[in-house]
Amino acid sequence: MTLKTLILAAGQGTRMRSARPKVLHEIAKRSLLQHVYDTSQLIIGNEIIVIYGHGGELVKQTLSGLDVQWIEQKEQLGTGHAVLQADGLINNDDIVLILYGDVPLLTKQSIDRLLANVSEQSLALLTVNLNDPTGYGRIVRNSQGYVAKITEHKDATEQEQLIKEVNTGILAVKGNKLKNWIARLDNSNAQQEFYLTDVIEMAVNEGITIKTSQAEHPDEVLGVNNRKQLSHLERVYQLAQADKLMEVGVTLADPARIDCRGTFISLGQDISVDINVIFEGSNRIGNNVTIGANTIINNSVIADNVQILANCIIDNAVVGAGSKVGPFARLRPQADLAEHVHIGNFVEIKKSTVAKGSKINHLSYIGDATIGSGVNIGAGTITCNYDGVNKFRTIIKDGAFIGSDTQLIAPVTVGKNATIGAGSTITKDTPDEQLSLSRAKQISIQGWQRPVKKEQ
Ligand code: UD1
Ligand code: CA
Repeated sequence: MTLKTLILAAGQGTRMRSARPKVLHEIAKRSLLQHVYDTSQLIIGNEIIVIYGHGGELVKQTLSGLDVQWIEQKEQLGTGHAVLQADGLINNDDIVLILYGDVPLLTKQSIDRLLANVSEQSLALLTVNLNDPTGYGRIVRNSQGYVAKITEHKDATEQEQLIKEVNTGILAVKGNKLKNWIARLDNSNAQQEFYLTDVIEMAVNEGITIKTSQAEHPDEVLGVNNRKQLSHLERVYQLAQADKLMEVGVTLADPARIDCRGTFISLGQDISVDINVIFEGSNRIGNNVTIGANTIINNSVIADNVQILANCIIDNAVVGAGSKVGPFARLRPQADLAEHVHIGNFVEIKKSTVAKGSKINHLSYIGDATIGSGVNIGAGTITCNYDGVNKFRTIIKDGAFIGSDTQLIAPVTVGKNATIGAGSTITKDTPDEQLSLSRAKQISIQGWQRPVKKEQ
């Protein structure tokens, strides 16, 4: 017996009004289909089959890393027709779980509860009660309370339309039963589609019990049909992320104004996050870290006792313990700061290491550089790392002091404890311990007069 999960993802998604296939739209930077896939991956020993159709090649290309079998549904003739496309991959003794590619927030817990209800004699169906059931298939129960059938909204009588318990579309059933029923579906209904939901009545007629379980929260089974629903589920997802962060001891200035579009490899204690902070990729954050407002942190490591002030972008970088960054700093890929480094406003650092205790406090560009410990880099310093064709390194040794407004023309090395006079353009290596400067001598002209405006 194998569990086969069918993810139905062939629908067009007309109401998204998009050139992109619906299942490639994203929540927290992950496509809808990826969300469904990731959740189904949590179920052990599960073979996943994706039914794709509309924009299929792009879907397959974008998600080529998924460990699934792709089955094309050339024409979208309904959910039952979609399942029929996978008939050849379903064995009689399989258990088949049906998920929707556009229902991204379903949890493993709900799937587990559903699967507990499948047997030779029962079909498991996930339902939900909605205050506004418009558009959904209604769960019609008999006088004893057993499910008798599902009636699609467009086919429902006025009486049936009052039913608030609706079909989520998510179900699980034995392979032999499903194969038998989907072969017999027809499309004599309001939408002239082959409805998967018609298998419910067939099951009941054969004496199979429909065992329902409910999703914990309606949001879990909401589908994405338009951009409004997409943004609603994004907020639902983000609030859940914020809850998780607070549960593990993170202080959030406002749980409604934080976005986590990735994962945390580790999170320390007493992290405090101000409003409008975005986390992307996989981040590691240490203890006692404060993160200022409007900051983006992507794929980075932030060690203990770090202070990140407002409006910083930290992208594929490492910030060592006790360091202070920002406000308005940009750490680009391979910026690697050791302990107690200070990076101030309007400083950009790329592919550079900065050793312990060094300071770059104002208005500087540091690229392709190796900076020693205890270095002080004055305002407006630029490592000129690029000649228009190739990139070159700048090395600044321990204890050096770089005066403001210095250009360091790489490749170049500034010696240990060397001092560079402000306003210098350094083109040659400078010796340890000495003052180097390149600057036109200052002159003053006695008796010089300012020009006067000519009479017209
Ligand atoms: C379906 C259910 C309805 C349920 C609702 C829950 C049927 C007949 N109706 O209705 O009872 O309340 O979902 O959201 O099943 N798809 C394909 N190929 C097709 C048609 C659809 O792959 O030919 C996929 C879609 O991409 C989507 C899913 O199946 O992921 C559901 O299709 P959709 O057209 O949205 O079904 P609903 O009319 O919403
Ligand atoms: Ca739908």
